[in-house]
Amino acid sequence: MKSDSGRVSHVSRQKENNMKMVAGNWKMFKTVEEARAYFVELATATPPQGDKVRVIVFPNYIALGALATTGSVPAWVLLGAQDVAAEVEGAFTGEVSPAMIRSTGATHVLIGHSERRHIIGESADLLHRKLINSLQASLIPVLCVGETLEERNAGKIEEVVFGQLDTALSDVQLCDGAQLVVAYEPVWAIGTGVNATNEQIEEAHHLIRQHLKQLLGTAIGGSVAILYGGSVKPANFASIAGLPSVDGGLIGGASLKPSAFAELIAIAEQV
Ligand code: 13P
Repeated sequence: MKSDSGRVSHVSRQKENNMKMVAGNWKMFKTVEEARAYFVELATATPPQGDKVRVIVFPNYIALGALATTGSVPAWVLLGAQDVAAEVEGAFTGEVSPAMIRSTGATHVLIGHSERRHIIGESADLLHRKLINSLQASLIPVLCVGETLEERNAGKIEEVVFGQLDTALSDVQLCDGAQLVVAYEPVWAIGTGVNATNEQIEEAHHLIRQHLKQLLGTAIGGSVAILYGGSVKPANFASIAGLPSVDGGLIGGASLKPSAFAELIAIAEQV
């Protein structure tokens, strides 16, 4: 694996040059061996040229730790964790701190994924503390927001998504929009094969953009990357990633096969 500083040095200013992000969330898949084999195969793909595409993979903690020493992760792939503790250190059995994640060379961390909000039951306050702690450890939080189908049908998208942003980002001051990424993942589109329509994505991303500007100021709120997630695959990614409000994708199922993930990266380069 490349040195930590080598990876971090190109983590900056993703919005200014219309960079697209292709982020793979492996969820609870892949053993250490499978993770290593994945990157050996991915390394044979054509690396993204120039600065147009940023690739981030979020393995499970165990694989993340093992990958730090394996040398199989291509230098053009950044790594992130799927979760993080809300505390810095101490008697919190089973938790993994931001500093521990940083020590693997990881640069990003998912916060508030809908599976953690809705299945594990993480509270808004807990997510806020995770986000603050991550920023303090110089990890880039990828804050996931999104409404359930019930909430959408009840006309509550703004109430829900703005509420998620408000709590997670309360009292947060950034000096650069590149310190944060937001992922809009409508819960009803995750793992269902039903992706949001382009109109639904544009509408939600515009609302999120306006709200980020209100919360973080126009310049910084305007430069935070906003990703779409939910049943993204090679067949629909060109049309989604090509939307002006979309800065990339957070991809679950289709990121698990190196060949499909390499296809998604190639598509992001072309839009
Ligand atoms: P799928 O791409 O499998 O729908 O998952 C999306 C997701 O949850 C990414 O975080």
